[in-house]
Amino acid sequence: MTQQRKILVTAALPYANGSIHLGHMLEYVQTDIWTRFQRAMGHEVWFAWADDAHGTPIMLHAKKRGIAPEQLIEEMSAEHQKDFQDFNISYDEFSSTHTQTNQALVELIWARLQEKGAVDNRTISQYFDPEASIFLPDRFIRGTCPRCQATDQAGDSCDACGASYDPTDLIDPHSAISGATPVLKDTEHFFVTLEQFREGLSAWIDSGAVQPEVANKLKEWFGEALRDWDVTRDAPYFGFPIPGQTDKYFYVWLDAPVGYLASFKNICQREGLDFDAWLSPETDTEMHHFIGKDIIYFHCLFWPAMLEGAGFRQPTQVHAHGFLTVNGAKMSKSRGTFIKARTWLDHINADALRYYFAAKLTPSLGDIDLSLEDFKARVNSDLVGKLVNIASRCSGFIHKLGDGQLSSALPDPDLYAHFIEQQRAIETDYDQLNFAGAIRQIMALADEANQYIDQHKPWQMAKEDNREDEVVAICTQGLNLFRVLITWLQPVIPATAHEASQFLNTSIEHFDAVSEPLLNHSIEKFKPLMQRIEQTQLDQVIDESRESLT
Ligand code: 2FM
Ligand code: ZN
Repeated sequence: MTQQRKILVTAALPYANGSIHLGHMLEYVQTDIWTRFQRAMGHEVWFAWADDAHGTPIMLHAKKRGIAPEQLIEEMSAEHQKDFQDFNISYDEFSSTHTQTNQALVELIWARLQEKGAVDNRTISQYFDPEASIFLPDRFIRGTCPRCQATDQAGDSCDACGASYDPTDLIDPHSAISGATPVLKDTEHFFVTLEQFREGLSAWIDSGAVQPEVANKLKEWFGEALRDWDVTRDAPYFGFPIPGQTDKYFYVWLDAPVGYLASFKNICQREGLDFDAWLSPETDTEMHHFIGKDIIYFHCLFWPAMLEGAGFRQPTQVHAHGFLTVNGAKMSKSRGTFIKARTWLDHINADALRYYFAAKLTPSLGDIDLSLEDFKARVNSDLVGKLVNIASRCSGFIHKLGDGQLSSALPDPDLYAHFIEQQRAIETDYDQLNFAGAIRQIMALADEANQYIDQHKPWQMAKEDNREDEVVAICTQGLNLFRVLITWLQPVIPATAHEASQFLNTSIEHFDAVSEPLLNHSIEKFKPLMQRIEQTQLDQVIDESRESLT
């Protein structure tokens, strides 16, 4: 028995500003598969999560709708959680960054950063919208790119030529909020002085906490002095006020990752866990963050620096993934490939998508393509044609000829042992986020299970006299192989596996349970566990995604 690990898992916190789409779901499915796998190994795992509730876009969105931001974030939280539950995401806590628990932790970390001398303040000059009376975040300033002259570009970078620049370099700047020409205005801001954490950050990066591709990127940034991080936003802002200041707020990116800890603190209070011990630098617990590759900077520089400054433990690992493309291209509203989680759920089984994502996920940062044609072919061939087929071919005979009872011995124990021998390799793939590798091995075994049934042809034997026991034995073998495979696939297709466990009358929660076959055991009547994906379902998803634009 391996030592029980204690693991805190997080996925990036979605903004409480819009619906969940399949790009989000890719990450949550990856996080959930890993979490479910660790539970299936018998480890203690807590998946703590929240909505990311603060910032200018959320404030403006609420204003536009004529409601308080608190109401907007409450509505979004309910919508998000419904989507997650229907996608079978098994989080232990879904909180919000806009809570007193989070605010108290933010203030604690802030006080400790100040004590450490890691906070600086100085006056900066920033674009201000004189009509709306608001300082403008870069993305709310539009203008002409100073490099390629493309019009209507954002204040920090050009979509047309990829240049990045300061908002003050933009030609003809105007506010995206009021259209007014912004003016420069002085304001005092607080900064976290990152350079003083260089040594700690380097050691952390070298500790194997990040993927090699991420480590290389970070080392590039380390080539020069680390720039101070501006963590201040002026009123009006929806966020936490900076203690002792007037009209100054913490930047949303300061309180967002603290939200991981605040969410976990709720779990600790509920479950009687020792939050301080989990957060201590001397802890033997693990903390894993799953993120997209666009927010590496925040999780691999700012966040570990904040943790160190506050005297807390470092993340054990940050796992970054690539972006989701659909049909080989960036998700597009006009092509109907910007697919909301709810639109998908209205037409297609969540487990089918979870399976497809898993079949493509590796520990690399490469983008993942959801090719709808390939999705249909893959699900129909692997899940319906191979996996579920094993059970549907065998279960009828157990009821017809064996009174619903599996036989007392396996006719081919070597084949069963051959399956179990692969378990360690499959576990390693799951643990290292090589889900594609795990799926490949499991499906190769599904082929072997089907070959076994093909060779023994129980349907033919059943027509011959006095061969009932043999038929039941062959089908007992087939169903035991199915049970092994569905147990190993449980982290990926949990709803399907749950139904299979009811049909088999057995728990599929722990991988180790399959070391012994199910014998002399009665099973329930088989119900189809997964339907074929039809083209019309995919067409409906695309059509509705196009419609939801208007
Ligand atoms: O990029 C985003 O969608 C952010 N809301 C992620 C925040 S992750 C964490 F830091 F809270
Ligand atoms: Zn440009």
